[in-house]
Amino acid sequence: MRYATITGWGKAIPPAILSNADLETIMDTSDEWISTRTGIKERRIAEVETSDMAALAGRQAIAAAGKTPEDVDLIVLATCSPDTLLPSAAAWAQTKLGATNAAAFDINAACSGFLYSLIVATNMIKGGTSKCALVIGSEKLHKYVNFRDRTTAVLFGDGAGAVLLEAVEQDEPIGLISSEMGLEVGTEELLWAPQSGISGYTDEPVTSNRAIQMGGSEVFRRAVTMMADSSERVLAEAGWEAGDVDLMIPHQANVRIIDAATRRLGLDESKVFVNIASYGNTSGATIPIALTEALEEGRIQPGAKLVFAAFGAGLTWAAATFQWGDRITPIEDYQVEFPSSDLSGIDLIQANLEYFGRNDVPGDGAGNP
Ligand code: UT7
Repeated sequence: MRYATITGWGKAIPPAILSNADLETIMDTSDEWISTRTGIKERRIAEVETSDMAALAGRQAIAAAGKTPEDVDLIVLATCSPDTLLPSAAAWAQTKLGATNAAAFDINAACSGFLYSLIVATNMIKGGTSKCALVIGSEKLHKYVNFRDRTTAVLFGDGAGAVLLEAVEQDEPIGLISSEMGLEVGTEELLWAPQSGISGYTDEPVTSNRAIQMGGSEVFRRAVTMMADSSERVLAEAGWEAGDVDLMIPHQANVRIIDAATRRLGLDESKVFVNIASYGNTSGATIPIALTEALEEGRIQPGAKLVFAAFGAGLTWAAATFQWGDRITPIEDYQVEFPSSDLSGIDLIQANLEYFGRNDVPGDGAGNP
């Protein structure tokens, strides 16, 4: 049988940090509120573009698999913050990687985007369209954030993660064992950036309507149900019990969502990977960054049984069970390096603060028209 297995992994974490203490200086919030309500301590702010981070994480994943960019025949880039809508961020990333033999496209399923992409790429490998696919999640979310709106500004961050998927022929199932993805109809406006696409190309001046708006508690409630229910279904389809799972890698949006969903699944917290304190919610990038760090920290052993689950704007959801292979160390180490810069996280959001602090910005200052 033909399967798709992960042979390389990588991440690109922008160097500039925006801490909870920094946020305390620009809005009515506190480290105590953010830490206890979300689990977040700090997040990263990128100076470079989404495709730059995608290429860096992708390059590390390719090296970890002992391959070259020319070996890659497919790039699937999960992002809801592409450098440009036309062409895709995947096109820019392909050039920056020098992946001259690859087809490339973006998938926008927001925070579920990486799992959507993993499922699509796996099936393209199984179907024979691809042999070697780079699946990336990369986001520059701070550009969507109104740093005068404390209900959203504390949550999001920038970064990228990637995996290399390769075709293998063997009898024993490996890679994705079971998976599902979905979208709840009629929930578009629960989490959105109203003028972030073509509808924003109006004759009017740019307005604060480009910022993320969210019904936080409604999203929270649905997120717990979506993550727990979809994980239960993929576990049942794989024929796995909760006790069989070696590690769950959930989307990192709020530690309370992760705790509630994994408690319902009956998973011990030692079996759940959480790194939200360092990066906040990086949307499509959370799961590949977390997977890479789980490997770096020795939390994944040969033959491990993994579960992934995510939810996000749409509202989308996705979940999968994943059978890991034998190798848990990179074949080649590629050191990710960002262009050197002296700018801090707070420096990089000054223009945003000035824009949303102006009296003539339409709306209520909280991103609402
Ligand atoms: O990947 C998908 C992305 N989105 C999500 O996953 C978000 C899901 N939702 C959440 O994570 C949570 O709903 C939030 C973290 C956004 C909010 O937590 P919450 O426990 O649902 O708080 P809340 O919205 O019910 O607000 C409670 C209070 C309010 O004050 P009052 O009305 O009780 O006086 C808010 O104004 O907390 C206030 N508040 C804040 N206080 C200090 C809201 N944001 C802040 C803040 N700092 N940053």
